[in-house]
This record gives sequence, C-alpha cells and structure tokens, in this order.
Amino acid sequence: MTGATVLTFPAIDEAALGAIAVHLAASVSDGGVVYLRGELGAGKTTFARALLEALGVDARIKSPTYSLIESYAVAGLAVHHLDLYRIADSGELEWLGLADLTGEPYLLLVEWPERAGRGLPGPDLILHLSHAGAVRDAVFSSSTPRGQQWLLRLAQRKSSIGNAPA
Ligand SMILES: Nc1ncnc2c1ncn2[C@@H]1O[C@H](COP(=O)(O)OP(=O)(O)OP(=O)(O)O)[C@@H](O)[C@H]1O
Ligand SMILES: [Mg+2]
Repeated sequence: MTGATVLTFPAIDEAALGAIAVHLAASVSDGGVVYLRGELGAGKTTFARALLEALGVDARIKSPTYSLIESYAVAGLAVHHLDLYRIADSGELEWLGLADLTGEPYLLLVEWPERAGRGLPGPDLILHLSHAGAVRDAVFSSSTPRGQQWLLRLAQRKSSIGNAPA
C-alpha cells in the first residue's frame, strides 16, 4: 500500500488489545470505516467488543456471526458491527442497507471485509491481527487522512499500552 501509515503492536495480550481499543474510541467517535482482518480466533470480535464498550454501548454486545450485523446508537453515532464470514457473495450485502448510510455519522466495524468484494465503503483503518503463540501481533494501517489522524494519536499513546516497546 503506497502512502499508508502503519502502526505495529507486536505480541500483545488481550488486555493490551483492549487498551488500544479504549484509546481509539476517543478518535473514532466522529465515525468512519474500520476493517478487522485476521484468521478465525485472531481477536476481531474481542477488539470490536472492547471498542463498543469504550464508546459507551451498555447493551449486551453479541457477535454478529449469525446475524451478519449488530447495530448500536451511542452519543450521536450509529455503529454497525458486521461479520461477513458467512456471506456467499457480495450481492447479499445489499439488504444490509449500507448504501443508505450516507448522511448520519456512522462507524462501521467489519470482520471478514474481504468477503464483501466491492460492496463495502473503503476503510479508514485496517487492523490485521495474527496469532503469535498465546498472544497476537496487531498491525494497523491507514490510507485516509481521517484514519491517519487516528493512528497519529494512537502512536502518541503507544508507550503507555501493555507490553508495547517504548
Ligand atoms: N491478545 C489477544 N487479543 C485478542 N484475543 C485474544 C488474545 N489472546 C487471546 N485471545 C482470545 O482469542 C479469542 C479471539 O476470539 P474472537 O472471537 O475475538 O476472534 P475473531 O477474530 O472474531 O474470530 P472469528 O473469525 O471466528 O470471528 C478469544 O477467546 C480471546 O479471549
Ligand atoms: Mg469474530
């Protein structure tokens, strides 16, 4: 990816991933699109749940594994958490009504975005989680001014997060 901003957190535990979500929550409350990549069990839902809690969602946060989408309203923001693992083709995305989202500030958190083909808005932020033994490597990247601003702020907090190197 040319012109991308990248921020890496190697070998983080679940608490550190949660701390990152807390820091990001302050930024993403203006809305945007976040892709969550990584294999089964990498921690995509764990991260989304921590972010939703930090945004102030007090309802029970279900994984959208079966429903495809779970939606929340928090502090003037519509938040949609999607898990596209089970969609057969990108045509199935149409009924989710993503095309109608323009207008209100919204935040999309999308697990398995690669299943959507071109049916999704482009990402402000991509989080790629991968297994590293019992912990995870987390790599954030962004190619939009909005997402790059989020990463800039997150980078300033990096030394205070879990087992990240100073
Ligand atoms: N550092 C870590 N970050 C996130 N999850 C971790 C970490 N270490 C261990 N875990 C565990 O790994 C599991 C991650 O499951 P989770 O449902 O979040 O994965 P997922 O990426 O959403 O998978 P799926 O593709 O099936 O939706 C949880 O049981 C969590 O407790
Ligand atoms: Mg999941």
